[in-house]
This record gives sequence, structure tokens and C-alpha cells, in this order.
Amino acid sequence: MYLSREEEAIYQGEKGETLRRMMEILVALGDIYGALRLVPVRSVQIAGVSYKNIGQAGLEWISDLSGKVVVPSILNPAGMDLLRCKEMGITGDFSSKQQETIEAYRKLGVTIDCTCTPYQIYDDIAGPGDHLAWSESSAVSYANSVIGARTNREGGPSALAAALVGKTALYGYHLDEFRRPTHSVTVEAEIHGSDYGALGFLVGRIVKDGVPLFILKAMPARGDLKALGAAMAASGSVALYYVKDVTPEPPEASVPEEHIHIDKKDIDEVYAQNPGDDADAIALGCPHCSSEELEKIAGLLGGRKVQKELWVCTARKIAEQNPMLVAAIEESGARVFCDTCMVVSPATERFSCMMTNSGKALAYLPGMAGVKAGFGSLEECIDVATGRR
Ligand code: F3S
Repeated sequence: MYLSREEEAIYQGEKGETLRRMMEILVALGDIYGALRLVPVRSVQIAGVSYKNIGQAGLEWISDLSGKVVVPSILNPAGMDLLRCKEMGITGDFSSKQQETIEAYRKLGVTIDCTCTPYQIYDDIAGPGDHLAWSESSAVSYANSVIGARTNREGGPSALAAALVGKTALYGYHLDEFRRPTHSVTVEAEIHGSDYGALGFLVGRIVKDGVPLFILKAMPARGDLKALGAAMAASGSVALYYVKDVTPEPPEASVPEEHIHIDKKDIDEVYAQNPGDDADAIALGCPHCSSEELEKIAGLLGGRKVQKELWVCTARKIAEQNPMLVAAIEESGARVFCDTCMVVSPATERFSCMMTNSGKALAYLPGMAGVKAGFGSLEECIDVATGRR
């Protein structure tokens, strides 16, 4: 891979040991994937934050680094709400190790926003055509597909390397040739709300790491696209998709070779996984809730009390912008947790079955949290939480 004179100097260790190690990671990835050169990135979103996932070895690796990030860099969700961990049932060693991890990132100049939806709290970190180094799969999907930016799905170390060097290797979804649709997906049903999570759950399993181009009858909102991409990234490993006449367009002369048809019956099969009374907890906010979603949840609760644990996950900045909505939701007995989520927090492990309106949580909860998962619309989730059914 070609390196400029300055990049070569970093690679040779002339700017210190941390930058040498970071450049070594970027060059190794570039060589594996056939990158021709490095490219500057506008922002970085770093995975490898929950102590549940990184453990002591990861914490020591991060703590050993020095210097400061050179581009806006934020974090993925941590293993707990950083201010209310006891309410999640997390205490002791995990809590202190998680705080240590956060402090290690803070020392490197990383902004302590722990969220998979950085685009909901900052509008100056990603724009059409920008090169990024983002990690979390739903954020990657949203950046590539809805914003029209360009990022591979970085691992924690390669994202941190990009943050400290300010560049990433130019390969994969940074290049037009990897951004061409592979499948067309015609959806015959009129869909809305949680149907997008169900649709993504189905399509991700079929296309795997392909690039689907959807032809929809409905006009999805941004929250619908967020749910669609998140589910496909989890049930498959889709990092880029298109919706005809809605999202930024694919490169010219792109014709998918495979064709898929989805109808109402297919979507209904996902809803057949509604656990009803078997659920002992309900989790919303995967990906993290927007202000509009908090408003909808508060409206659906309508002052009713919850009979089962109901978690609503969001970014701390979104919660801080909406104190009245958070108060209205918590008045019901539900909890609005920030900085974390039901998949990356060990607090989830005490439940046996969790109900969610997220296709991504449906795909990940069993494997990553050891919890049975069931699916329902947002309305159904609230009804189960409040004992209405
Ligand atoms: Fe975000 Fe956690 Fe879901 S990181 S996309 S809320 S699994």
C-alpha cells in the first residue's frame, strides 16, 4: 500500500510508539484488503466499549495508548448507564472496570457519548461522500445508506487507530465498485413502524453481506430506515442498502443480479414471535431512541403503570434534550437508560425472555445476552409491559 512521506514516518515510529502501532494496524488491514492508500476520515465511532465485550485485556490495551484523537471521535454503547448502573443491577467490579474503560478513552481525547446513533446527536460528523471509520453495524449501515457517507464496519482497534491517525485504509465500501446493489427486494405489502425491523430481519438472513435495493410501496421515515438497516446488519451483515427514490442513489449502471419478493405473510411470520406473557422484560431503543421515538413511547404509555420491567435505551444527549418525556416515561415505572443497551449490558442476563420491537435485538439477544427474544410492534410491546393483554 502506498504511504506518503509523512505516513511512512509514522509507520517507522518517528511520531511515537502509539502512532506507530496504530499505523501498523491500518497498513495491515490495507494490505489484507488490497487498499492502494489511506484516506482522511471526517469522524470515528469506536466499538469495544462495553467491558462485557472487551474484558481486562481490552482495557489494558486501550490504557496503554497515549496521545489524542485528531478527528471527532465518539463511543459505542457501554455495558451500563454510566450514572445509574445500580438501577440496572450492576455494581462492584464490573462497574469500576467499565468506568476505567471510559476514562481510558477520555484520556485519548474521545468524546464520551456512548451511542450507536451518533447521527441523531451531531449533524456535523458525517455528510454525503464523506469517508468515515465507524464501528457499530447499525450506525455503519445508516451512514452508508441514508447519509450517503462511506465507511467499512471497523473493529474497535482499527477505529481507534483511525481516530488517532485521522485516516483509514481505502477499500471496501469506500469505493464505488463495492457499493453496487446485489439484490432487488420488492415489498408487496404496505408497511409501517416496526414492520421495517421485521423486514430487515428477513432480508438480512437472505442477502447476508449483499447490498439490497428496496422497492417499497410506502415512504419510510428516517426512524424506519434506521430500524431496517439495523436489523439487516444483525440477521445478516448488510452494511449498505438502497431504497428506490428515498436514499442516495447507487453508482451508475448498477443492476442487481438477484431478485427477492416479500409479502405481508412473510412480515407476519416475524410477528408470530410475539412472546406475550412469557416476556419478563421489554426493551425498546435498539438502535437508540430519537426524540420522536421517546415522544411516541410516552404517548403510548399515557400515564399507565408498567407491570414488567420496561427499558428504553437512548443517547444521554437525547435524554437531556427531553427531560419532560423522560419524566413521563419513568412515571410509569419504566426506565430510560443512557450510554448502554439491552445487548451490550450484562444486566440483561437476569431475564429469561425479552420482548422488543427491534429486528436487531431480536437477532442478537439470544446469542449475545443468552436471553430468549420475542418481537412485537411498539404498541404491542407497551401493551405487554403494562399488562393490557
Ligand atoms: Fe445500538 Fe445496542 Fe441495538 S448498540 S443498535 S442498541 S444492539
